[in-house]
Amino acid sequence: MTTHRRLFLTQVLSVSVLFVVLVFAIVPLVFGSAQYIVFFLLTGAYFMIILLFYQVYKNYVRPVKHLVETIDSLVSGNYKVRVHEDFHADTGRLQGAINELARHLQDLNRQEKMHARQLNSVIENMASGVMLIDQQGYVHLVNKRFVDLFGLTRERYTDSLYYDVLDQNQIDETVQEVFLYEQPIKNEITLTKDLTTYYLEVIGAPYFNQKHDLRGAVLVFHDVTEFKRLEQIRKDFVANVSHELRTPITSIKGFAETMLEDELDKELEQRFLSIIYKESHRLQLLIQDLLDLSKLEKVDFHLNYQVIQLDGLIRESVEMAKVQAKAKGMDLTIAGEEGLELSADYDRLKQVILNLIYNAINYSPNGGEVTIAAYNSSGYVKIEVSDNGMGIATEVLPRIFERFYRVDKARSRNTGGTGLGLSITKHIVEAHHGQIFVDSVVDEGSTFTIMLPKEQT
Ligand SMILES: Nc1ncnc2c1ncn2[C@@H]1O[C@H](COP(=O)(O)OP(=O)(O)O)[C@@H](O)[C@H]1O
Ligand SMILES: [Mg+2]
Repeated sequence: MTTHRRLFLTQVLSVSVLFVVLVFAIVPLVFGSAQYIVFFLLTGAYFMIILLFYQVYKNYVRPVKHLVETIDSLVSGNYKVRVHEDFHADTGRLQGAINELARHLQDLNRQEKMHARQLNSVIENMASGVMLIDQQGYVHLVNKRFVDLFGLTRERYTDSLYYDVLDQNQIDETVQEVFLYEQPIKNEITLTKDLTTYYLEVIGAPYFNQKHDLRGAVLVFHDVTEFKRLEQIRKDFVANVSHELRTPITSIKGFAETMLEDELDKELEQRFLSIIYKESHRLQLLIQDLLDLSKLEKVDFHLNYQVIQLDGLIRESVEMAKVQAKAKGMDLTIAGEEGLELSADYDRLKQVILNLIYNAINYSPNGGEVTIAAYNSSGYVKIEVSDNGMGIATEVLPRIFERFYRVDKARSRNTGGTGLGLSITKHIVEAHHGQIFVDSVVDEGSTFTIMLPKEQT
């Protein structure tokens, strides 16, 4: 039994006792029929008082008790509780207000949880690593990317001192500077993981409480390895281009100077002039290839697709390369299937096939043979250019598509090569959503294979 109900029953009991005492004390004082009247009056009064007690209990004591219980529940964080709303009771409005409050609290709580979840998933799924430390240096939070980058488990980082779990000096320096200057600091760090070096940019930012006291720092780590790699490629490219340009220019300048300064006989003059002509031709080829490459690499580069009869294209290319082949006593043979069609950029595809044919001629001895064959290959067209020339050593095979890479520099130069032909070729093939492979045995020959989709979407 609850205390309130017990109180109510005690009161009922005491009123009943009082009533009995009153009945026994007053009724004997009167006589005759007056005794009945007094008895009925007292009984009436008794029931009135009991009813009054019941009303007070029902309308005030019990609802207030429920309200108190509900508020206790709300305080302890259970926002789902509601009080029963008794519209007739005087406490009805209070009950309504408490329920309204409970509903608000429940909404607020739901929103807060949702925001926390959203914030958490943003931090957790960021492409950059995040670490939050307090002003003593204890780690409070790390995200998934951070764990991936630095390798230990999440549990190992949280609640540890950052310098106990991270041994990069630059991180320590960044944190020290953030705490010292109380402003964002940017640094770069290197990480070596599984023999690979990663470059990370770390940005440390202080965070403050409302009174502007420093409370700790947030560190964000971006992986800039790919960016660094591209930067290196760009630097190498500029260095290579400069180097490639220097040789012909030096020789043109040298021969021109000699011709200007010295009195030369006709024959020597002719020889020098032909060298100047050859070198300027090389320069022209190089610049043409460089322009081609930069055109292919432009963001808005697009191919002019059209339906191409492969037979015609191959025949035309062979016709163009014939002079060069004849000069070396070589045969160009067309083989494979006929009547193949595909959607491609005519001029670009011809450039690809010519590049491969010229390479086959250039890197084969006199009297060799070059075969150009096309095949149907379920949704793709396969074009093979094979020679029985000098071949390429297996260890350098993956490098031949790199810009300026040449197995034998002098030989390539003599044939007017720039070292850019295969990288341009690969670019064009990939722009057509195709692939290029090479198969080669030293002193036996090479086969370059390109696979091109018949349809372009
Ligand atoms: N058919 C081939 N046989 C042997 N070596 C080849 C062949 N094609 C290409 N190579 C090698 O690959 C290198 C790169 O070719 P490429 O990019 O066309 O440059 P280039 O012909 O201007 O030197 C060549 O220098 C050569 O060493
Ligand atoms: Mg070439």
